[in-house]
Amino acid sequence: MNKKIAVIGAGNVGATTAMYLAEANFADVVLVDIIEGTPQGKGLDLCQAGPVRGYNGMVTGTNKMKDIKGADIVIMTAGLPRKPGMSREDLLNMNADIVGGVAKNIKKFAPKSTVIVVSNPLDLMTFHMQKVTGFPANRVLGQAGVLDSTRMRTFIAMELGVAMTDVQAMVLGGHGDTMVPLPRYTTVSGVPIAELIPADRIKAIAKRTAGGGGEIVKLLKTGSAYYAPAAASVQMCRAIFNDEKKVLAASASLTGQYGIKNIYIGVPVVLGAKGVEKILELKLNKGELKSLQGSASTYKEHLKIMGYK
Ligand code: APR
Repeated sequence: MNKKIAVIGAGNVGATTAMYLAEANFADVVLVDIIEGTPQGKGLDLCQAGPVRGYNGMVTGTNKMKDIKGADIVIMTAGLPRKPGMSREDLLNMNADIVGGVAKNIKKFAPKSTVIVVSNPLDLMTFHMQKVTGFPANRVLGQAGVLDSTRMRTFIAMELGVAMTDVQAMVLGGHGDTMVPLPRYTTVSGVPIAELIPADRIKAIAKRTAGGGGEIVKLLKTGSAYYAPAAASVQMCRAIFNDEKKVLAASASLTGQYGIKNIYIGVPVVLGAKGVEKILELKLNKGELKSLQGSASTYKEHLKIMGYK
């Protein structure tokens, strides 16, 4: 295949992302991890599924970052996952070191790539990735909004007993406790959910969405979610490769939209060949805007902990 995607981290999220990418059949995949044998073994295993599953892209595993050379897209999943009782922010400094080290190598070996960050705490790690690579902000984005929205879509479909794919949802803000689900912009085949679900149930669904990652951490006990995060990352890759101009929520660098600047946070974007081609500014009501700006202020504090002014 003439397209190449590098997936950094061959753990749960990385390996599942590589699997979905292989199944999507649009690029060769290079899986990178520091643990010797893990990416190589998983890569070979995924290749050997190809003849049965009907895909032809090669999945290779490596411990060397130089093997990402020429990658069109890099998906950053390396890092430590949350354990029960741990917030995404607890991961902050541990994962910042990992992301910073990987970012230097991306800059060196794949300087033209678009980078999708999945490592948590997501919005902060995406900011850090952009600063260390020095890439234009449109080429560095974070995968959170698609995941948070797909969680909300699933809960609404469960509530109504309708097709999950018919539900469209928009979730903004930080990927964490400061998430801002937007029921007003959520529909079932174009019908606003307020017409279909009582207000108290919508509130409960929005709350469950905001705690969606934590719910899975609690159940798994030894790690965090990976199927939906991986699926969300692959949807973003597809939008970039096919220049789909897809409207998705993603963590993007704001330059004054929503009265916020100099941070990454979840907003609706147009995703195409150039990465984040546009940030859409929705008309938020007072409460929604306050929540989004509240998310932003929390992040500004966390960026200070990371040494950014
Ligand atoms: N370079 C490459 N791989 C690394 C590096 C590094 N510098 N540091 C750690 N890794 C690898 C680990 O060896 C491990 O295989 O990252 C992998 C992480 O895998 P898991 O522990 O299974 O974690 P996972 O569930 O995949 O989550 C990864 O995604 O959703 C987020 O919060 C989650 O930040 C976490 C990340």
